[in-house]
Amino acid sequence: MKPTTLSQLRQWKQEKHKFATITAYDASFAQLFAEQGISVMLIGDSLGMVVQGQDSTLPVTVEEIAYHTRCVRRGAPHALLLADLPFMSYATPEQAFESAAVLMRAGGNMVKLEGGGWLCDTVRMLTERAVPVCGHLGLTPQSVNIFGGYKVQGRDEVAANQLIKDAMMLEEAGAQLLVLECVPVDLARRVTEELSIPVIGIGAGNVTDGQILVMHDAFGITGGHTPKFAKDFLSEAGDIRSAVRLYVDQVAQGVYPGEEHSFK
Ligand code: KIV
Repeated sequence: MKPTTLSQLRQWKQEKHKFATITAYDASFAQLFAEQGISVMLIGDSLGMVVQGQDSTLPVTVEEIAYHTRCVRRGAPHALLLADLPFMSYATPEQAFESAAVLMRAGGNMVKLEGGGWLCDTVRMLTERAVPVCGHLGLTPQSVNIFGGYKVQGRDEVAANQLIKDAMMLEEAGAQLLVLECVPVDLARRVTEELSIPVIGIGAGNVTDGQILVMHDAFGITGGHTPKFAKDFLSEAGDIRSAVRLYVDQVAQGVYPGEEHSFK
């Protein structure tokens, strides 16, 4: 089996083949996801909430992401693994480099960081030192205390234009992938068309190149609040393997996310 690479993702964008990705935190699920056709996984700092039971992603450490990255790598040796740089682990380019080195040594293929233009020096520094970078714009959960909650971003023209500018600056600085979270569909479409790198959406409609879900949201384990963009594939499909397959197929067909999962 061949490892999944970033050039494969760029090819999928060109071919307009919509691809499904998912968060993974352990070897067993990582193996199951790979067997059902998911070859890109994120070791997200969402693990603070869905694995550790914290009320935000802020307490997560680099060592914790590294531990889960090692677990996922054992289960999915050929997958492209994105490892999240947690809160305050990339406040300066130098700190980002130290943190990224830990995650790459743990088995990551690229790191993901949250924020816009202010990160360009960091993105440049990492990329020049052989660490591929995925940006993350829109609702960036590490900024929950700035946003005052988990709210849809980029709703007015000024915010939307700023987000597009940030996305272009990140690409220009060397980012090779972008996650776009909880933004209106029209804005997601503009960003996806504007960038030549693949854009992966969550709560951004079916117009992005790929989709990502926190695995618990795909299985209906949402612990009270269910985000609008989440879909319980498990209850529709009946078992976990079929649920993952259904997610992959519905993303490829553009059926998921539907209008009911998207923001206008
Ligand atoms: O941490 C995470 O799981 C994420 C996804 C929601 C994209 O950043």
